[in-house]
Order: sequence, then C-alpha cells, then structure tokens
Amino acid sequence: MNMVHTIDRYAVIGHPISHSLSPVIHTAFAAQTGQHLSYEAIDVAPGQLETTLNQLPVAGYRGINITVPHKESAWAFAQQQGQLTERALLAGAINTIAWRSEGLLGDNTDGQGLLNDLQQRHGLNLAGQRILLLGAGGASRGVILPLLAAKPASLVIANRTADKAQRLAALFTRSAGATPLAGCGLDALGKQDHDAFDLVINATSASLGGEAIALPSGALSAHGFAYDMMYGKKLTPFLEAQQQSGIIRLADGLGMLVEQAAVAFELWRGVTPETGPVYHALRERLARH
Ligand code: ATR
Repeated sequence: MNMVHTIDRYAVIGHPISHSLSPVIHTAFAAQTGQHLSYEAIDVAPGQLETTLNQLPVAGYRGINITVPHKESAWAFAQQQGQLTERALLAGAINTIAWRSEGLLGDNTDGQGLLNDLQQRHGLNLAGQRILLLGAGGASRGVILPLLAAKPASLVIANRTADKAQRLAALFTRSAGATPLAGCGLDALGKQDHDAFDLVINATSASLGGEAIALPSGALSAHGFAYDMMYGKKLTPFLEAQQQSGIIRLADGLGMLVEQAAVAFELWRGVTPETGPVYHALRERLARH
C-alpha cells in the first residue's frame, strides 16, 4: 500500500527562512479548524526555485507560501506554468500557490491581509480616507489594488527614489478609476500644499535597517493612523518617530502577517480561521523573545 501522501502538505519557502512565523500560524489555524495537514519551512536558494516548484506538488504539497526573495520569480513561474488571480496579476509578486486538480494557481494575499488588519482589527474605515503609502518596491506594489478597492479619497505613493513611485502610480492609473492616485519623492511631501493624510502605511524596508522615515510635520493628521508593515518586539523606528511627533494611533504589521496567512489558508482549505487568538499568542511570543 502506498502510504506516502496520506497528509496534505504545505510549506513556506524563502531564503533565509528559519525565523519565519508561518509554520506556527498555519499549525495553529489547522488545529483550530480541525484540518489534517502539515506545514513546514523550507529554505530554497534563489537558483533552486524553479526545480523546487516543479518537485513540491509531486511530493504531496497542496500549497505553499512564498517569501523573500522569491515572490517576483514565483510570480513569473506561475504566469508561465499556471494561472494568477487578478489581484496577483497586477501585484507582480505572489505569496501563495495552490496546486489544484486544474493546475497551479498563484495568488497574492498581502493586500487583503493588510485591509483585514486595518479594518477588522484596528477598526479603520478606509472609504473616503486620504492615504499615504511609503515605498515603491514589491511590498508597496502588492497592496495598491486592494487599497484602491477600499475607495479612499486619494492615494499618494511616496518613495525615496521619486521616479519609482511615479512609475508605480502610472501602472495602477486604470485600476484607480476616479480615485486620485499620484507618485512622488519623499522629499516632495513637505513641499506640497494638501490636506493632512488620515493614514500612512510604511511599506519600505527602512525599518529592517533600523532606520526611521521622517515625515514633514503635519503630513499626517494628529488624529491619523500610522501603520508599519514591519513588526518586532518593540515599536519599529518608523512608529517610534510617529509617536514622538504626537501620533497616538499606531500599529505594526504583525496583524497583517496573520491575516495574509488566513486568506491563504482559506484559499487552500475552504475554511476561514479565527485570527484573533493566533495574533495574541504571537504578540506574547514576540514580547518574550
Ligand atoms: P520590498 O519588496 O520589501 O518592497 P524592495 O523592492 O527592495 O523591497 O523595496 C524597498 C523599498 O524600501 C524601496 O521603496 C526603497 O526605496 P528606493 O526605491 O529609493 O530604494 C525603500 N527604502 C529602503 N530603505 C530605505 C530608507 N532607509 N529610507 C527610505 N526608503 C527606503
């Protein structure tokens, strides 16, 4: 009797991968929803991505999450060898693959994860809000379409390198419809005469290097909300700088991490896990380590 594929297998792939919280999150979701599956972290060197993506479904994997540095290359693979969801197509990067009987499906759940965190956990209503998105790399690009879908009053993408922000804004012009969408340099923020933003989202990797991004005073409304996609034991440098300038509504990206995982889990298993308990357990775990 063939006993090889008795359990549906899932994994997160990245390089490095040992610090990933995804196995903890998905194992908790599986226990909570009574789903029988395994989930592990697999270190995949950049040159090994294509071989790995061909091997995993043969070895019984039904789905994977994808993290740095493979999100863009996996997108290209999925575009050639399978299908992409609409939100993944424009994101230019995927964080989730599902292998189904019809073949490979690539998805990007980061943007929906961000929206769920902002709207459900932090109680924001993005409709009619003026949103500032910092950064013009993959993290930023992945959340633009879902942010636009939330019908903000406007969306400004600001980046250290201005032309990358302008190019990104141009790419999404058609999706923006009537919503004003613009790209500019970080340095231009202080020079523009516009109403203060209601929400600023840091999608740069500056916090990774311990650096804060200074916003001109008054760029974010005093009642505004500052969000950093990064997270850690303490406030990120960006959130700390916002707090010092008097902003009291702050959140880091731990909730987004849990929410993007929940959207992926739902895609794979057809059941929606409850994210609250997992989020609180991770917060406590971060505080201890
Ligand atoms: P990711 O996929 O995480 O978005 P990326 O594509 O390398 O990573 O993009 C990193 C983003 O963070 C870019 O927008 C980068 O700005 P540049 O385009 O000018 O390089 C931004 N970034 C990184 N470090 C930064 C810093 N110290 N200050 C401001 N922006 C920074």
